[in-house]
Amino acid sequence: MRPLLSALTRIHKPPVRAGCRRCLDSCAGGGGGGGLLALRDDALVVGSSRELVRSLGPHVEVRTAFVTEQEEEALLRELEPGLKKRRYEFNHWDDAIHGYRETERARWGAECEEVLNRVRSIAFSEGCVLLGPVHVLDLDKTGYIKPHIDSVKFCGSTIAGLSLLSDSIMRLVKEHANNEWLDLLLPRRSLYILRDQARYNFTHEILKDEESMFNGQRVPRQRRISVICRNLPG
Ligand code: OGA
Ligand code: MN
Repeated sequence: MRPLLSALTRIHKPPVRAGCRRCLDSCAGGGGGGGLLALRDDALVVGSSRELVRSLGPHVEVRTAFVTEQEEEALLRELEPGLKKRRYEFNHWDDAIHGYRETERARWGAECEEVLNRVRSIAFSEGCVLLGPVHVLDLDKTGYIKPHIDSVKFCGSTIAGLSLLSDSIMRLVKEHANNEWLDLLLPRRSLYILRDQARYNFTHEILKDEESMFNGQRVPRQRRISVICRNLPG
């Protein structure tokens, strides 16, 4: 199969032992969202220390209910036919991802384009050049993403992703300091944004179903489709 640009965007970091948490740094910042929403969404981030949650906070953002049920349906209607033609990949053990299929999409119908424009306007500043096609990653229920940092050669400072079909946990672990970590609860239909430190100095991963816990509470992982916008390196 033609290697996707998206496959080139990940640099797999040595696997982290189960239960071991490297660190992370990133949290959203910017972008307002209003006091109540900000407060509520704070509960979607836990970390190895308050200091880390506070310092990474500006570089990591999770926005719940970013996509309506109807918009999720529109996105799935558009994506499913193409995805179904591909097989889930389970055998590439060295790869950063296990149990996935993926594609890229440059042209979208009006309703989907509207959603993506919302993502772009919130996550990226004006004048920032985005990677043309949007990356679509379909994780099987048994699939997961191992700790990695997106290639600095192909991707810029910001990664913005929609989570469809399932809740999931994204774990950020600081490179070379794996006792510093953040867990993000990514509810179905939420948007997450990783910027700067969170994107460059922390690995990110999506936990497998068996390990999918947030703050001590189990968060079942179903099949999950993410729709990811990135910018180009500056
Ligand atoms: C990736 C990645 C996260 C997601 O494809 O590099 O980290 O939300 N994806 O699927
Ligand atoms: Mn990544």
